[in-house]
Amino acid sequence: MAFLAVEGVRKSFGGVAAVNGVSFALEAGRIYGLIGPNGSGKTTLFNCITGLERLDAGRVTFKGERIDRLRPYRIANRGIGRTFQVIRVFPELTALENLLVVTRGPRVDAERRGRELLELVKLERLAGEYAGNLSYGQQKLVEFVRVLMTDPALILLDEPAAGVNRTLLNDLLAAVARLRDQGRTILLVEHDMKVVMGLCEMVFVLDHGEKIAEGPPGLIQADERVIEAYFGR
Ligand SMILES: Nc1ncnc2c1ncn2[C@@H]1O[C@H](COP(=O)(O)OP(=O)(O)OP(=O)(O)O)[C@@H](O)[C@H]1O
Ligand SMILES: [Mg+2]
Repeated sequence: MAFLAVEGVRKSFGGVAAVNGVSFALEAGRIYGLIGPNGSGKTTLFNCITGLERLDAGRVTFKGERIDRLRPYRIANRGIGRTFQVIRVFPELTALENLLVVTRGPRVDAERRGRELLELVKLERLAGEYAGNLSYGQQKLVEFVRVLMTDPALILLDEPAAGVNRTLLNDLLAAVARLRDQGRTILLVEHDMKVVMGLCEMVFVLDHGEKIAEGPPGLIQADERVIEAYFGR
C-alpha cells in the first residue's frame, strides 16, 4: 500500500484543465520532487491533495484511506502539512508567535517546540522579532518550520527555496534532509534543478496538467520529453 496515492486526479478552471488525470504514489520516508514549467499544475495538485480544491475526478488516499472529500483541517489533522508558494506569515506577530498560531494544547510545550524548530533553521535569535521585519528568506523559513509544529508525516513544500539566499538555502536543505532521516515523507515543488538533484530520490514531471515523466533525477534531466517541456517552445 502506498503512503500517499494520487489516482487519476483532474481539476479544471473554466476551460483550463489545470490537472488532467495525474497519478503517482509515494512511499514513506523519501523525498520526492514535483517539477514542471510555470502553469503546469503543480500548485493545483497540492491544493487537491490538501483539500483546498475539490477534485473533478480521481481520488487521493493517504495511508490507505480516502481523503479527497475531507475538509482541509481534517486532512491536516491526519498528518499532511504544506507550505504556500506565496508567503503567508503574519507580519505583526513575532517569528515565534507565527509558529504558535497553528497549535493547540499547553502553550509552554508549543513554545518549547517552536524554539527548537527556529533553532533547526538557525532563527532562534530572531524568535521575538516581528515577522514583518525579517528578510523574505527568513520569512520563508518561518513558514517552513510552522508546518512542522503539528508534526506532519507528509510535508508538501511549494517552492520553499525561491527567493532564499544561499546561506539560508543550505540551512533549509539540511533541515529537509533531516526530516526525511526522521522518517517523514516530503513532496517538493522546486524550479532549481540543483536543489532537486541534490535532495530528491524520485521526481515527477508535469506539463500542461499531465504527468510526462517519473524517475530518479539523473534520468529525468536527460529525458527528451522533459527537456522539450522546459526548453522546446
Ligand atoms: N483558481 C484558479 N482559477 C483559474 N485558473 C487557475 C486557478 N488556479 C490555477 N489556475 C490555472 O491552472 C493552471 C495551473 O496552475 P498552477 O498554479 O497549478 O501551476 P504551477 O505549476 O503551480 O505554476 P508555477 O510554476 O507558476 O507556480 C494555470 O493555467 C493557471 O492559470
Ligand atoms: Mg505553483
